[in-house]
Amino acid sequence: PVAQIGVTGLAVMGANLARNLARKGFTVAVHNRSPQRARQLLADHGHEGAFVPAEALTDFVASLQRPRAIIVMVQAGAATDAVIDQLTPLLDADDIIIDCGNAHYADTRRREETLRGLGLRFVGCGVSGGEEGALTGPSIMPGGAAEAYATLGPILEKIAARVDGQPCVAHVGSDGAGHFVKMVHNGIEYADMQLIAEAYDLLREGLWASPKQIAQIFRQWNTGELNSFLVEIAADVLEHTDAATGRPFVDIVADIAAQKGTGRWTVQSALDLNVPITGIAEATFARALSGSVDQRRAAADAFAHAGGGHALTVSDADLFVEDVRRALYASKVVAYAQGFDQIDAGSQRYGWKIDRGQVARLWRGGCIIRARFLDHIAAAYTADPQLPTLLVDPYFATAVADGAPSWRRVVSEAVWAGVPTPAFSSSLAYFDGLRRDRLPAALIQGLRDHFGAHTYRRVDRPGSFHTRWSGDRGEAAA
Ligand code: 6PG
Repeated sequence: PVAQIGVTGLAVMGANLARNLARKGFTVAVHNRSPQRARQLLADHGHEGAFVPAEALTDFVASLQRPRAIIVMVQAGAATDAVIDQLTPLLDADDIIIDCGNAHYADTRRREETLRGLGLRFVGCGVSGGEEGALTGPSIMPGGAAEAYATLGPILEKIAARVDGQPCVAHVGSDGAGHFVKMVHNGIEYADMQLIAEAYDLLREGLWASPKQIAQIFRQWNTGELNSFLVEIAADVLEHTDAATGRPFVDIVADIAAQKGTGRWTVQSALDLNVPITGIAEATFARALSGSVDQRRAAADAFAHAGGGHALTVSDADLFVEDVRRALYASKVVAYAQGFDQIDAGSQRYGWKIDRGQVARLWRGGCIIRARFLDHIAAAYTADPQLPTLLVDPYFATAVADGAPSWRRVVSEAVWAGVPTPAFSSSLAYFDGLRRDRLPAALIQGLRDHFGAHTYRRVDRPGSFHTRWSGDRGEAAA
C-alpha cells in the first residue's frame, strides 16, 4: 500500500479536497461509488499529484497505509451511514474514518460511539470554505478523539488555510465537537448574510442607490472593521449585470432564500440549550418568510394602501451610510457573541472543553465567515476564557456602545418607513435586554404563579414562594 490518505465521495468538495492533498505532496487514494468520477478526476487533474484510483472499495482500502485515514465526503445523513457501514468491515484497529460532510453533531456522536466500540476511530470534521476553499485551503474543525488528531493533524495542517503562518485547523474537542462548531459557523453565516442583505436594502431604499453604487460602499466598508469575505463577495454580486437583460443581477434573482438546513439545526440546538441566538434565528426565519410566496402576495395586496410606512427620508447621505455601517457592525458583534455563547453551552452540555479563542482563530481564514474582527474575538477569549459575553470585552464593549446611537437611528427610521430589519432590530433588542437592570420577566413569573402555582423567587431573600392568588393572597414558602 502506498497511499497516505484516502478520499471517498468525489463530487466537487471531495474531489477538491483530494486535489488539495495531492498538491501538498500526499499520495491520495480516491474512490467514488460510480467510478466515472474517479476516472474524470484523474483525467482532468491527475498531473497535479499522486493519485491512486480504485473502483472497488476493497482495492481502495487495500491501497492505504496503516493506520488508514479515510475521508468520507458524501451527503450528510443516510448516505454517510451507508458508506461507513460498507467501510467498517474492511478496516483494522485504529484506522480512522473522517467525515468531512455537514453532518449533524448528534449523528457524529452516535457514529463515533459505534466505531469506537469496533476499535476504530471516527472523526467528525467540519470543513468550510466552499469549493474554492476545499481546493486552496479551507478552515477545518475536527472533533473525535485527541489520539486520532495526533495522526491526522499533520496532514490537515498542510491543506488548511493559513493566517499569520498559523494553519486554520486544530482539534476542537471530542466526538461531535467539530461538527457542532461547524453548525454554529453556518448559523453565524446565515446571520452575517441577513445583516448584509438588510444593510443593502436600507441603502437602496434610503439613498435610491443602484446596486453598483452600493457595491462601491461595500468595497469601502471592506477596508475597515467590517472587512470580511462575505462583504467582499456581496460587492461582487451587487456589481454584476445580468447578461440576458442588462439589468442588475440582484434584480433578476427570485427573492426566495433557500437553505440546506444547517441554520435550522443551529436554531433547534439553541432552543435545546436555552441560548438566545436571536440574530441567527431571525436570519433563518427571514429565509422562511422569503419563501412564503402565497402569504407575501396576499399581504402585499391587502396592505398596498394600508399599514403605514413611508419612503425612508435621508437628509444627510454620508451620515446615513455611516449609521448603517455602524449598525451592521454592532449587529454583527451581537450575532457572533450569541454564536460563541452557543458553542460554550454545547461544550458544557457534552463535556467538550472547547476553547473559544481557538475557534475564533480557526475561522480567521478559509471559511465563509472569515473576517478581520475574528482577531479581536480570538484575543478577547484568550485574554479571558471565562468571558461572560463577548459584548463586555473592552474592545467590543466600546465598539457596540459607540455604535449604539447609529444603531438606534437606523432601526427606528426603518421601523417608521416600514423597511423590515429583523436581524438589525432583534440584535438591538437583545443588546438592550442584556444590559437592562430589571426585566419585565418578573411579571411573567407573577403570571405563572397566578395561573399555575409555578412559584417565584424574591429579590430580598432566598427560597421559592407562592402567593395564594385565588384565596387570601398571602404568601407561602414553596
Ligand atoms: C461552508 C458553507 C457550506 C454550506 C453552504 C450552504 O462553510 O463552506 O457553510 O458548508 O453548505 O453555505 O448552506 P445553505 O444551503 O444552508 O445556505
